[in-house]
Amino acid sequence: MNQVLITGASGLIGSRLTEMLQQGGVPVAHLGRTKTSGHVPSFVWDVSRGKIDEDALRRADVIIHLAGAGVADRRWSAARKKEILDSRLQSTQLLYHALERQKYQAKVLVAASAIGYYGFGMSDHEFSESDSPGKDFLADVTRQWEAAVDEIEKLGIRVVKIRIGIVLSNRGGALAEMAKPVKFCVGAPLGTGRQQVSWIHIDDLCGMFLMAARDEQMRGAYNGVAPNPVSNRMLTRAIALALKKPLWLPPVPPFVLKLLVGEMAEMLINGSNVSAAKILSTGFEFKFPAIEEALKDLLHR
Ligand SMILES: NC(=O)c1ccc[n+]([C@@H]2O[C@H](COP(=O)([O-])OP(=O)(O)OC[C@H]3O[C@@H](n4cnc5c(N)ncnc54)[C@H](OP(=O)(O)O)[C@@H]3O)[C@@H](O)[C@H]2O)c1
Repeated sequence: MNQVLITGASGLIGSRLTEMLQQGGVPVAHLGRTKTSGHVPSFVWDVSRGKIDEDALRRADVIIHLAGAGVADRRWSAARKKEILDSRLQSTQLLYHALERQKYQAKVLVAASAIGYYGFGMSDHEFSESDSPGKDFLADVTRQWEAAVDEIEKLGIRVVKIRIGIVLSNRGGALAEMAKPVKFCVGAPLGTGRQQVSWIHIDDLCGMFLMAARDEQMRGAYNGVAPNPVSNRMLTRAIALALKKPLWLPPVPPFVLKLLVGEMAEMLINGSNVSAAKILSTGFEFKFPAIEEALKDLLHR
């Protein structure tokens, strides 16, 4: 790879991906709402105004597209829902038009998507990439986001979409939120606790993005999840065990979750069981296929 351009690079995944690329000696550049600090060339776009510094695209032969307003950062008001959708569609369309206007050298675009594509609440079904999208808000956002990303293929650029599961990192995201109450001895499973959590260690996810950028056989959608999903109860127990903390509270009832986080509670109460078979069939090797090893690595680092 000559140069990789990452959108939304200041976030959880983009910052780890930047580190891993730099460790591998690959030149990286960032495209975001503000310039990122550090030693990485950094370019700015204003997604809602349709403005982009096209110099960002001049040298990039790989584009990794992660930008989007945080799905779990705030309650889903009508305005927030619009921002979650618009930030993804408009940023993708902005890339499309810039790439269409000039013949830049990008050969591949690897885009973030989410397992929310399948909808939540069918834990007896294992979702694979050929399943149809679900019907709730996140499924609808993800379907439209992927459709916008697919347009870029018409420009002769190979497109890979990674349907990301719950990313476990020691620098924020879902694991930090789950570990916080456990650390204070008030951790508890959510809802029935039986719902499946399709998780992935951040380093495996970044490894998948890098493989998708390099492997010319890969195109279309791949689930970005570890091969061994766990129930919410097992995950909460494993976190408590890794932190050597007791777990004594009963599960948090669904109505309390709804009061706390509103419509987003559906995602936490229902979960989804997502298959890693397709990414495994490419020869991808997980460093952290099991939750115990992933948590040991992240919580004891
Ligand atoms: N983490 C997960 O568990 C998970 C799971 C499924 C899917 N994903 C998807 O993967 C992508 C990256 O995830 P992440 O965890 O790294 O997310 P993140 O930490 O929230 O970072 C996303 C980045 O997108 C940019 N951004 C935020 N609001 C924006 C807006 N209104 N318009 C344009 N850009 C905006 C920001 O970068 P700048 O400030 O540099 O512009 C931000 O740092 C996201 O699209 C997310 O939906 C993540």
